Amino acid sequence: MARRRIIAGNWKMNKTPSEAVALCAELKDLVKNDAVDVVYCVPAIDIVPVVEAVKGTNVHVGAENFYIEDKGAFTGEISAPMLKDAGVEYIIIGHSERRDIFGENDILINQKVKKAFASGLKPILCCGESPTLRKAGTYKEWIERQITWDLDGVTADQVKELVIAYEPIWAIGTGETATADQAEEVCALIRELIAKLYDQATADAVRIQYGGSMNAGNAAELLSKANIDGGLIGGASLKPDFGQIVNA
Ligand code: 13P
Repeated sequence: MARRRIIAGNWKMNKTPSEAVALCAELKDLVKNDAVDVVYCVPAIDIVPVVEAVKGTNVHVGAENFYIEDKGAFTGEISAPMLKDAGVEYIIIGHSERRDIFGENDILINQKVKKAFASGLKPILCCGESPTLRKAGTYKEWIERQITWDLDGVTADQVKELVIAYEPIWAIGTGETATADQAEEVCALIRELIAKLYDQATADAVRIQYGGSMNAGNAAELLSKANIDGGLIGGASLKPDFGQIVNA
């Protein structure tokens, strides 16, 4: 079954609103590719100007975080309806930086996945092991546990619309990319797990990305693998290289 490729930039805490608009202009012609879903996941304050800046192009906008309530006394948070109203389509959930620096656990991440679907946002659900678990050889069990917890109560029809990003923590921002075979091993494992938890049709539909020091030089090999349907790109999404990844 042919899955549509999805190349998403995770801008993290980079780019002021005016810098964000300038980056959209810089990348505009470089990211043209109608065969690929191109997404910019941007800081909350950049969402409104970026939605405006990419109007009429092939770029979709995502957010990097939200809270599970629609509104109320949650100082500093933004809600799914706010994101929807601003023109956001995708939402990153469970990134290792949110898990490790901001203490998000799988209970909250599971609530966020369900809330995103209920609100009409498409989750990009992240998973990935630490260097310690990679060295210990227990990374497969860890990934299976994360995904199983994070998808508790999520329906097969929802999972068909889900994007899962496998991001080994040892490869994020380190310049140490997983080899294409290492990435493929875990992406295939995730697809098998989805088949076990749901059914083969759901496993065939779910899109799985690799993330972690993906760049213009290694993207084509990673993306050539059978179970890697795209990338979630940090550092290289802030540069013209992102266009080369989109067109790899
Ligand atoms: P880098 O591409 O900078 O390694 O970041 C990957 C990432 O965390 C994307 O979410």
